Amino acid sequence: MSMQMQTKAQTSFDSLALTPPMGWNSWNTFQCNINEKLIKETADAMVKSGMLAAGYKYLIIDDCWQVGRDKNGNIIADPVKFPSGIKALADYIHSKGLKFGIYSDAGTKTCQGRPGSRGYEFQDARTYARWGVDYLKYDWCHHGTQNAEASYRLMAQALRAAGRPIVFSICEWGTNKPWLWGKKAGGNLWRTTEDILNCYDCRNDWGGMGFVHILDLQVGLQAYAGPGHWNDPDMLEVGNTGLTVEESRSHFSLWAILAAPLIAGNDIIHMSDTIRDILTNREVIAVDQDPLGKEGTRVKKEGDLEVWARQLADGSRAVVLFNRGEKKAKIAFQWTDIGYPNTLKAEVRDLWKHENLGKFKGSFSAEVGKHSVVMVKVIPE
Ligand code: GLA
Repeated sequence: MSMQMQTKAQTSFDSLALTPPMGWNSWNTFQCNINEKLIKETADAMVKSGMLAAGYKYLIIDDCWQVGRDKNGNIIADPVKFPSGIKALADYIHSKGLKFGIYSDAGTKTCQGRPGSRGYEFQDARTYARWGVDYLKYDWCHHGTQNAEASYRLMAQALRAAGRPIVFSICEWGTNKPWLWGKKAGGNLWRTTEDILNCYDCRNDWGGMGFVHILDLQVGLQAYAGPGHWNDPDMLEVGNTGLTVEESRSHFSLWAILAAPLIAGNDIIHMSDTIRDILTNREVIAVDQDPLGKEGTRVKKEGDLEVWARQLADGSRAVVLFNRGEKKAKIAFQWTDIGYPNTLKAEVRDLWKHENLGKFKGSFSAEVGKHSVVMVKVIPE
């Protein structure tokens, strides 16, 4: 590579994920039940439903696309489920204006026992670049005694060496505090917790949990996020069975406050208009994608009643009033809770009703239903 080419490649890697990545991933709904037809139909649906226009550009295949390696060590895609091969699939996805993401693992095997990239990092990165991959989710199963930071850095180096700018998603579940080293290791985002489950507040025996538990674990991590490197509280369960519509709306609003990657995990082909309207709410997405890239956090908690806030590039604040309890309740906050003096007059706009609620001075309150949110923008005069 010439110096000039090297600088160009460097620059394009450095301008990846300047806002949190948005897209769709196969895992939350389909697990290993993926195939070429499903992925192509999902690509079509992403365009038709308006998801792409709303910003969801990465279509990511998770675990189970791979079955082995050939005698030269090249990774082999499942020939029954992906008969046309991954390159052809990537071409199809690109032809729709989407970007294409894939999944591997830093250990010897993926979480579903498929071949991992351990020992094949540079070879796999070259294969991905050749196929036209734009995003790699890199998991942490079967890692034995491997050092996490070194393992992720190795794959980041391999991706850079392969030359094609590929968003690098560290999926290490927060075990070794990746927020402390993920950026340095070359990651654009890193999972902060075990897997999200399609429920409000359940937990399972291996550490999977509903979104409210994930939410609690984000408090204190906000300083580590910024343009090009994001905390990842895991993919969305919006629209999946196990969450009510109100809970889906709460989940989505709070992920926007967290500057979280918005990776939908529902069945886009069959989603209802209600769920599509949640996922494509332009005003909430604008909060998530705010160019300042400053992650928000919880600024007030009184039992089940919480206030989450985020500073935006134009000096305004996005605020979510979240009622975790079982009964409707009034939630209030003062301007001082969101970093303004109480003497300030500000316009308050409801981001779900899409209407201005009027001018307020010093405080705002609203009635919030069970497991629901009211999400507003507070815009100083
Ligand atoms: C891990 C990851 C999940 C998913 C599965 C696939 O559990 O955290 O997001 O990728 O593996 O096997």
